[in-house]
Amino acid sequence: MLNLTAVDLKRRKMKILFVPVCENKPIHTDPLISALVGRAMAFEEFKGKKDQELTLHQPPGCTAERVVFRGMGKAEALDAETLRQMAGRSVKRCIQLGMTRMGLAAPDPTAAGIAEADGLKALMEGAFLGNHLFDRYKEKKEKKPLGRIDILVPSKPVGRLRRLPPEIETVCGATLMAREWVNLPSNEKPPEALARIIAAEAKTRGLGVEVFTEKQLQQKKMGALLAVAAGSASPPAMVVLQHKGGDRRPPVVLVGKGVTFDSGGINLKTGDSLPDMKGDMAGAAAVAAALIAAAGLKIKRRLIGVIPLVENMVSGSSTRPGDIVRTFSGKTVEIGNTDAEGRLILIDAMAYAEWRFKPEVMVDVATLTGACVVALGDKIAGVFAKDEALQNDLVASGRRTHERCWPMPLPEDYKELLKSSYADIGNMPSSRYGGAISAALFLSEFVDKTRWAHIDIAGPAYHKKEDAYCGPGGTGFGVRLLVDWLMNLA
Ligand code: BES
Ligand code: ZN
Ligand code: ZN
Repeated sequence: MLNLTAVDLKRRKMKILFVPVCENKPIHTDPLISALVGRAMAFEEFKGKKDQELTLHQPPGCTAERVVFRGMGKAEALDAETLRQMAGRSVKRCIQLGMTRMGLAAPDPTAAGIAEADGLKALMEGAFLGNHLFDRYKEKKEKKPLGRIDILVPSKPVGRLRRLPPEIETVCGATLMAREWVNLPSNEKPPEALARIIAAEAKTRGLGVEVFTEKQLQQKKMGALLAVAAGSASPPAMVVLQHKGGDRRPPVVLVGKGVTFDSGGINLKTGDSLPDMKGDMAGAAAVAAALIAAAGLKIKRRLIGVIPLVENMVSGSSTRPGDIVRTFSGKTVEIGNTDAEGRLILIDAMAYAEWRFKPEVMVDVATLTGACVVALGDKIAGVFAKDEALQNDLVASGRRTHERCWPMPLPEDYKELLKSSYADIGNMPSSRYGGAISAALFLSEFVDKTRWAHIDIAGPAYHKKEDAYCGPGGTGFGVRLLVDWLMNLA
């Protein structure tokens, strides 16, 4: 689908070519493209300013039927993300026009102050991610994704550059998979069904797969997870994925919150937030997809994904506020609020993972709190970790992938908020302030010695509106972030 190729605009016919242009500096080295840019800039209405656009039809000396120039603003402001967005928007435009393929002229990234591979990578990511439509429930498919995207570079790509397109297809393909799972309506993904969907994809990628049934979860005494599942007619499940990686070190464990629908339980949610709660399994989707990508990239590290799946519903068998349950760890939890269910399924999954796999490091990913969205908005995830190096590594991966993460604190004294009069701990903090922090602190009580980080993706996991390289709904946030982090693990 993605194709990195040397420019040959004198010979190869092309229906549509996109060319990014900066207002204050040439960013292309190919003479023909530079000449085309000169032609475009001769028009009053196009000076390469941000979001300006100009289309030339059949420009002389070039075989492209039309060339679309896109203003990128000042060259100093050009970065990987502006390229990603430019590529995504260009692809979306082509889909709108009913095209089947397109060309995109890569700028000389060094002219724009970006490393060559980073610039190309960003362009290809934006193009690939923008080329996705979630239309499986539309009877009439009006639009179709492009069959091929040519990224034009000045000379024949060599070495590492040649390996970029398949690598990006693997990682971004996994991102699209996560988006699809998040976008599935809850009636199509009850826990056991979602477990089967994930297991099937994971198996074809060569991952080891186990799926635990409700009975097995009962035998394992996962009382917190089972309490969340109690009100649903659909039984819970837990998927464990393993990537061998060929090393003998203790593994890296990823844990993902998989609530296939969060009604809130007896503490029923209100208003229009309910339909979005089909996306409350975005952490699970990100973890499963990251493992699938890691297997495709043959990452040389043993990796485990632990994915608890439940539906949080209201019925006569629902857990009640005030109920006390015994968790996998042996500690008891007073369930003060049935809508704080994510932390309940995570603590059983995390304690189980630590006990069984003795990991070197563990990261959980979860759409855990509305408070995190209040704190950081809907584009930035919160990263909680006592281990600063681990927190910094995740923040750095967030910067590289533009799946942004911000470091959040885990203050010991706030644990006060989680005291219960009757059980070892309560799931409902006594104050609504700092809700993302108290949730993370609750989780921390169920990790013993392992280096651990928690990523709250409640904001960036799911967007009602489409943007440059994502449709409305699931964003696949976390997949590129986790894969980048795994690839850079020492
Ligand atoms: N799934 C929600 C968190 C959420 C909110 C995700 C908005 C995505 C968008 C979570 O289970 C929840 O309901 N959390 C409660 C916790 C509270 C009851 C302590 C919240 O954030 O209000
Ligand atoms: Zn909830
Ligand atoms: Zn939830």
